[in-house]
Amino acid sequence: MSNTLLVTNIAELVTNDPSRGNGPLGLRRDAALVVEDGQIAWVGPAAAAPAADDVLDAAGRAALPGFVDSHAHLVFAGDRAAEFAARMAGEPYTGGGIRSTVAATRAASDDDLRANVRRLVREALRQGTTTIEIKSGYGLTVVDEARSLRVAREFSAETTLLGAHVVPSGMGADDYVSLVCGDMLAACRPYAKWVDVFCERGAFDGEQSRAVLEAGRRAGLGLRVHANQLGPGPGVQLAVELAAGSADHCTFLSDADVAALADSDTVATLLPGAEFSTRSPYPDARRLLDAGVTVALATDCNPGSSFTSSMPFCIALAVRDMRLTPAEAVWAATSGGSHALDRGDVGVLRAGARADLMLLDAPSYLHLAYRPGVPLVSTVLHNGVPVS
Ligand code: NIG
Ligand code: FE
Repeated sequence: MSNTLLVTNIAELVTNDPSRGNGPLGLRRDAALVVEDGQIAWVGPAAAAPAADDVLDAAGRAALPGFVDSHAHLVFAGDRAAEFAARMAGEPYTGGGIRSTVAATRAASDDDLRANVRRLVREALRQGTTTIEIKSGYGLTVVDEARSLRVAREFSAETTLLGAHVVPSGMGADDYVSLVCGDMLAACRPYAKWVDVFCERGAFDGEQSRAVLEAGRRAGLGLRVHANQLGPGPGVQLAVELAAGSADHCTFLSDADVAALADSDTVATLLPGAEFSTRSPYPDARRLLDAGVTVALATDCNPGSSFTSSMPFCIALAVRDMRLTPAEAVWAATSGGSHALDRGDVGVLRAGARADLMLLDAPSYLHLAYRPGVPLVSTVLHNGVPVS
């Protein structure tokens, strides 16, 4: 007999199931849910809740699905606080600092990398993130990319080969692309679900990015693209043409880029922590939403451009500075992320979904943006188990 847990007296429940509640968030008042075997077994009115083995009294708090952070670079060593300070004093962000993280990552032991990932995954989990995508990309050799993904796989099923992050020093771009498409992909394939490429001036051009993505697809990986982050370019069009799960950043878009995204199943993943931490203009999120593009919000957690693991912080930025409504931002941080990762079982609270959810020390999800910087996430259930 499995144990059941009743979570009751939820003042406001975000289900993300519009067929079972109000609006796109599927909001329900005075709700309850039952967890069994790591899954949601029942959702309904608190007054009609069935008996269960254990009870968690939400006592008038809000509950929502765990955040789905669909873009993070957690496998690295070293620290770039000095680069951040220089930026705040006026230096631009160019991505050039990636190579210093590569040197520190190559020098680190597997155990050091594992300890860093564990710390960041835990930091994110305590802030409500129950699904997190983890990219490689600071190894840039066959051995270092493969061990990065092996470590990442210990913590998440959503792992991404980003061998094509930058061209490592001492190698020509075309030789490196051949290595990524050949030996690196073969060595990393067992530990990766996705392949990603930094399609940007100074990193990989359209043709090189296409080669990496097509090789990844032939190997059975799903596709993601760092697209149009630092300037206009072919990344978004390539992502749409190749039916990538997500085009990420989307800061510098033409009308044709927006139209292509709107006409596709490719999610536009916005990463406002990167614009915040590089003091750059934010993407025009309203233009994307108003065109009907599916938008996800993620942290881009990495030591260079966005060293935050906090989805609540990204929600606050998205509302204040990118003009998402609080409902759009919460949807993008939960359901949007699950769309970007092609996951029907997370980002939603309905019978059969994974029991990944959080309670806020607040009566409504609105407080996530209304009370920025406040640790409102009080209780997190991951696979139905309370996180301590
Ligand atoms: O998504 N744009 C490329 N990669 C990361 C930054 C990496 C770094 O600066 O270390 C990003 O912003
Ligand atoms: Fe990134």
